Amino acid sequence: MVVDNLSNSSAEPLDRVSRLSGSKVTFYELDLRDISNLRQVFRSEAIEAVVHLAGLKSVGESVADPIKYYDNNVGSSVALTTVMSSCDVRTLVFSSSATVYGQADSPEYVESMAVAPANPYGHTKLTIEHLLQDLAGSSQHWRVCALRYFNPVGADESGAIGEDPVGVPANLFPYIAQVAIGKRRCLTVFGNDYATRDGTAVRDYIHVSDLAEGHLAALQKMPPEGNFFSAFNLGVGHGESVLDVIRAFEQASGVAIPYRLAARRPGDLAAYWANPAKAHELFGWRAKRGLQRACEDTWRWQVRNPDGYQSAANGSV
Ligand code: UFG
Repeated sequence: MVVDNLSNSSAEPLDRVSRLSGSKVTFYELDLRDISNLRQVFRSEAIEAVVHLAGLKSVGESVADPIKYYDNNVGSSVALTTVMSSCDVRTLVFSSSATVYGQADSPEYVESMAVAPANPYGHTKLTIEHLLQDLAGSSQHWRVCALRYFNPVGADESGAIGEDPVGVPANLFPYIAQVAIGKRRCLTVFGNDYATRDGTAVRDYIHVSDLAEGHLAALQKMPPEGNFFSAFNLGVGHGESVLDVIRAFEQASGVAIPYRLAARRPGDLAAYWANPAKAHELFGWRAKRGLQRACEDTWRWQVRNPDGYQSAANGSV
């Protein structure tokens, strides 16, 4: 069962999930902050646990309009946990972000490190983590995992579900995919003067299917005792540069990616990646798919859906 206000998405991927999985996905179009209707959903469905993925996620937009981010991200989390509490559902997996760490002494982020987000988006993720930690401390019934994603990339291997950004893609993977398919002329590489092996910034790119498996593992392996809150890194455990990604995508697609070098993007860090040992120790989870696989799956999605989920309407799928 899925609840979404579709502010940044469409219901089409849910139809595709139903088709792929062979089981119908019940969908409620609803904003989580609409507490009375959300309570109705909880009363009419048998819910044991919640995976909370709802939220706005553009760093730049959060700097320009922080109230929108606090209202949407924090407000919806307060509403959701209020309804969960009143309906006796107290098991939650929350979608957090590596952005909570901010500028750190080491590029390898580990959960025991201090957190210091550098932008309003990161502040909202950390504020929600604090809310959930306080809730878990307040009652022996709450069990909560916050999953700190690194850079989610790739698409479902079927080629039927993938990333469909509105307008010009802000992130590297969808931008490269649109250059490869000919929708955009040239990729801009932001910065080639970082202190990294080839001068371009380094990130931990994790395949979305590995991320999905991380959520299942968290739900299945979370300790049964209450008063539980813990944060876990979900990443592959090493970094790749922007030029590494370009080369991997060229290999996966067989298409040369034209790019130009430009100044650093404001707010970007030089390099960071996950130490994912904690998720492995507690959940037995580790990322199985690499960068090459993420590029192949993204390319399959892009070729089959040149206009994203609009492609279905255009007959391209
Ligand atoms: N990049 C380019 N050209 C582009 C787009 C990106 O060179 O057109 C570079 C960026 O400068 C960065 C790397 O590619 O070095 C990755 O950039 P993304 O925008 O794909 O990802 P970020 O690392 O900026 O973003 C990640 C997550 C976000 C999260 C953010 C917080 O994907 O969800 O970290 O720091 F909010």
